[in-house]
Amino acid sequence: MADSPITRKMLLVYKEHSDWSSLPSSERILLEKAWTETNNAYAPYSNFRVGASLELENGVLIPGSNQENASFPAGLCAERVAIFAAMGQQPGVKVQRIAITAINKENNLKRPVYPCGFCAQVLIDLEERQNAPVSIILGLKDGGAVVMESAKMLLPFSFSKDDL
Ligand code: THU
Repeated sequence: MADSPITRKMLLVYKEHSDWSSLPSSERILLEKAWTETNNAYAPYSNFRVGASLELENGVLIPGSNQENASFPAGLCAERVAIFAAMGQQPGVKVQRIAITAINKENNLKRPVYPCGFCAQVLIDLEERQNAPVSIILGLKDGGAVVMESAKMLLPFSFSKDDL
């Protein structure tokens, strides 16, 4: 992936799966963990429950789910709940991948949910911090999945510490 010094232009590379059965088993299992985590979401305001499961290089899995608050901006996305928990609990251990899934009140989501811009930024910062990519596994239960090898695919023109 050749980066231009000015635009950091890069090729967007990702793999689509029409259902979870065609995923490698390790990715499917991580998505299933993320699905279980949607039960732990606290989402009385949006009724949109997100589950994440993060796998570390030592095999430890860290769960995350969105946690909302009556003061809306005080809530936190599932991805950042898992990422910051991992940083606090297993400092220095690299994150290899994160699986993310979601369900809304009507259970009628049409496609896998992509991390929001804040979470994409946090994931990219994490990649820089650990000098290794984080695979992103996004899946809609009983639907498709998208796998990308790096969080940079989510936000190609992200802000970086190199810009400071
Ligand atoms: N949410 C996540 O947890 N992750 C995402 O990638 C997108 C959004 C949460 C935040 C909020 O609790 C709810 O979903 C609706 O935006």
